[in-house]
Amino acid sequence: MSEGEGDDAGDADSADGSGAGTDGSGDTVVRRDRFSGGPARSFLSSMDADDRIFAADLAVDRAHVVMLAEQGIVSEDDAATILGALADVEAAGFDALPEGEDVHEAIETAVVDEVGSVGGKMHTARSRNDEVATCIRYRLREDLLDAIEAVLALRGALADVAAAEAETVMPGFTHLQPAQPTTVAHWALSYEGTLARDTGRLLDAYDRANESPLGGAAFAGTTFDVDRERTADLLGFDGVVTNATDAAASRDFLLEAVAALSSVAVTGSGLAEDVVFFANRGFVDVSDDYASTSSIMPQKKNPDTMELVRATAGDALGAYQGLATTLKGLPRAYNRDLQRATGHAWTAADSVTQAVEVAAGAVATADWPAEALEAAAGEGFSTATGVADALAAAGLPFRTAHEIVALAAEQGADLEAVDAAAQEVTGESLSALVDPELVAAALDPAESVAQRDSTGGPAPGAVREALGDVRDGVDADQAAVAAEREALADAHDSLAGEVADYV
Ligand code: ARG
Repeated sequence: MSEGEGDDAGDADSADGSGAGTDGSGDTVVRRDRFSGGPARSFLSSMDADDRIFAADLAVDRAHVVMLAEQGIVSEDDAATILGALADVEAAGFDALPEGEDVHEAIETAVVDEVGSVGGKMHTARSRNDEVATCIRYRLREDLLDAIEAVLALRGALADVAAAEAETVMPGFTHLQPAQPTTVAHWALSYEGTLARDTGRLLDAYDRANESPLGGAAFAGTTFDVDRERTADLLGFDGVVTNATDAAASRDFLLEAVAALSSVAVTGSGLAEDVVFFANRGFVDVSDDYASTSSIMPQKKNPDTMELVRATAGDALGAYQGLATTLKGLPRAYNRDLQRATGHAWTAADSVTQAVEVAAGAVATADWPAEALEAAAGEGFSTATGVADALAAAGLPFRTAHEIVALAAEQGADLEAVDAAAQEVTGESLSALVDPELVAAALDPAESVAQRDSTGGPAPGAVREALGDVRDGVDADQAAVAAEREALADAHDSLAGEVADYV
C-alpha cells in the first residue's frame, strides 16, 4: 500500500496487527508523520458532520470484528480486546473522540490508544471507503423510515379530513380561477394520492440503500477470506453490493433517496400553497398552534408554518442539485468529493421530515368553515360545466351546450340566462330541450358535486368509496415500515448478542 492511504491498510501491514501501530499519541495511527495535517487539516476533516454516523460506525466496526474472528482472520482474544475498547469508545461518546480526519479514523485511534497495537487489527480486510459507504447506508435507513413515517402521518391526517368533510362543498380552482365546485374531502384525497406514490418512492429508495458495501475494501476486494454476507446480516442489510468498486464508490442510493425526498417536498409545497391561499380567502382556519402573527399589525394571523413548508422544497431541491453535481463525472473508484456528497442527503432528510411533520399537524388541526365554503362554491359560475353536461345529457351536442352556457355566463349565469341563451343559440326554449329542473339542480353547487359520482369524483359516495382504499394503502405502508424497523431492531439485538459472547 502506498503510505498514508490508510484505506488500503488491511491488505498488508495490518494483517499482523503491526501496520497500524501507534506511538502512543494516537494521532499517528492512520496518518503517520507525513500526513500529520497542515493548514488544510480542518478542510480535510468531516468530523463536524460525522456525529451523525458515530453509532453506525460502531456497529460496522463490531460486525466487522465479529466476522474477522469467525473467519479466523483475527484471534478471538484480539477480537474481545477490540470489542471491549469499542464499548468504552461508545460509553465515552462522540465528543470524547480524539482528533481525526473523520469518525472512522478517530474511533480507530481511540481503540489503539486504549489497547495498543492490537487495536490496529480492527482495520484488517477493509478500507474507510467501504466503511463509510456502509455507515451512510446504515444511517440513511433510519432517516428514510423517519421520513416515511412523517409522510404517513400526513396521509392519515388528510384521510381524516376526507372522512370528516366529505359533504363540505368548496370552490375548486384551475389557473387559480374558480372552476368547478368540489369538496374539502376530495381536495384532501388529491394530495393523499400523490403522497402515496411518494411513499412508494421512499420505500424503493430504502430497498436499494439496504445493501451492504462492507468487505469491498478500498475498491478491489481483499486477499482475506471475508464473509460479506455475514457482516451484511449482522448489520441488518438485505444483501451485499456485489462489485467491490460499485460498493465503495457509488452514491446513487443517496441520489435516489434525495430525489424521493424532493418529490415529497414538491408535493408538500403545493399543499402548503393551497392552504396559504385558502387561508387568504377565509376557506380554512389554521390553528393558532400553526400560525404566527405580525410584530406590528395586531389583527394579523398568518399561516407561517405552511409558508415554511412551501419553502422546504428549496432545501430539498438544492440538496438534490448539490448532490448530483458533486457526483457527476466522478471517476472510479473512491474520490474525496464523496465526503461532501453525504451532507446533502442529511439536509434533505432533516428538512423534509420536519416540514412534513409540521404539515401533518397543521392539516390535522385546521378548521374548514362549511358555510363560507359553500357560499363561495358557486362563485365565478363554477357550476357551468355541470349545466352544459345536463344539456348534453338531454341530447344536445356538447359543443352546442358549451356555447349556450358560455352565453348564459355573460347574461347572469342563472336559469333565466340559460333559457335566454338556449333560445338565442337553438331558436328553441330551454324546456323544449331539457327538463329545466335538471338545469336548476346543476346550478346548485352541492347538487353539482353530488352528480359527479364517477370513479374518483368528488360526490360524497365516490369519496367514501375511495377512502376505504386510502386507509388500506396507509395501513399497508405502515406495516412495511414496521417490518423494516423490526428487522433493524432484530439485527441490532443479534449483533449485541454476538458481541456479548466475546466481552
Ligand atoms: N470521511 C471520508 C468520507 O466521508 C471517509 C473516506 C476516506 N477515504 C479516503 N480514501 N480518504 O468519504
